[in-house]
Amino acid sequence: MIPKHVAIIMDGNGRWAKQRGLPRTAGHKAGAETLKKILAHAQKRGIQTVTLFAFSSENWNRPAEEVNTLMELFRTYLKNDIAELTKKGVRVSFIGNRMKFADDIREKMDSLEKETQNLTDFHVVLALSYGARDDIIDATKRIAGEVKSGKIAPEAIDAALFATHLSTNGTPDPDLVIRTSGEERISNFLLWELAYAELYFTPVYWPDFDEKEFDVALDAYAKRQRRFGRVV
Ligand code: IPE
Ligand code: IPE
Ligand code: MG
Repeated sequence: MIPKHVAIIMDGNGRWAKQRGLPRTAGHKAGAETLKKILAHAQKRGIQTVTLFAFSSENWNRPAEEVNTLMELFRTYLKNDIAELTKKGVRVSFIGNRMKFADDIREKMDSLEKETQNLTDFHVVLALSYGARDDIIDATKRIAGEVKSGKIAPEAIDAALFATHLSTNGTPDPDLVIRTSGEERISNFLLWELAYAELYFTPVYWPDFDEKEFDVALDAYAKRQRRFGRVV
């Protein structure tokens, strides 16, 4: 009853900070610490894959100061914490439009991904500058190109073929999605992949989310009955 793949929408950093009279960016810093703890715990609980929504394609529209601080945090996080994880045998990959990042950040993403691509113990997927609609449109463009060049017939397009053209290709669909902060929406995250995921919402802000809260989510998941449209 342990999910193989947990996807997390790490939300509420700004409100956590506001509650304490701190700038929003302080919430992002605290959130980065939470991420470290939760990844270690997820691995300990026997989860194989964790996908984390860290920055959406729409988050570029936030004030420049906040975006800049987030970029600085990603830079440090990739070079220190994520690089540390990879030394422990964790596979790291990224989904989202990495062309939008500064060269050094993009290069770090590419190299971490390449260095760890054959590791199988635990897989961490970071969604950075990610939007599911963009991903679906990109997949559609590639499929259209393959049809045009005669590589595939239109009749050959089915769900399995479509999925292989998404950035999440090769990773099983999430079993459980956790969203913190009390918002109960998907916000353009993994629209295709979440078709049959169990959704879990908690009012806890991401910086306050901890191992205990994560276990509560896993317990809730264990009580769900997944039917996939069938009769049990
Ligand atoms: C999530 O926290 C982190 C990012 C989206 C980068 P928010 O920054 O959205 O925090 P709230 O939702 O404003 O509290
Ligand atoms: C979703 O949170 C994106 C991330 C957690 C990275 P947002 O805070 O951007 O979503 P909305 O705007 O509340 O829907
Ligand atoms: Mg938010």
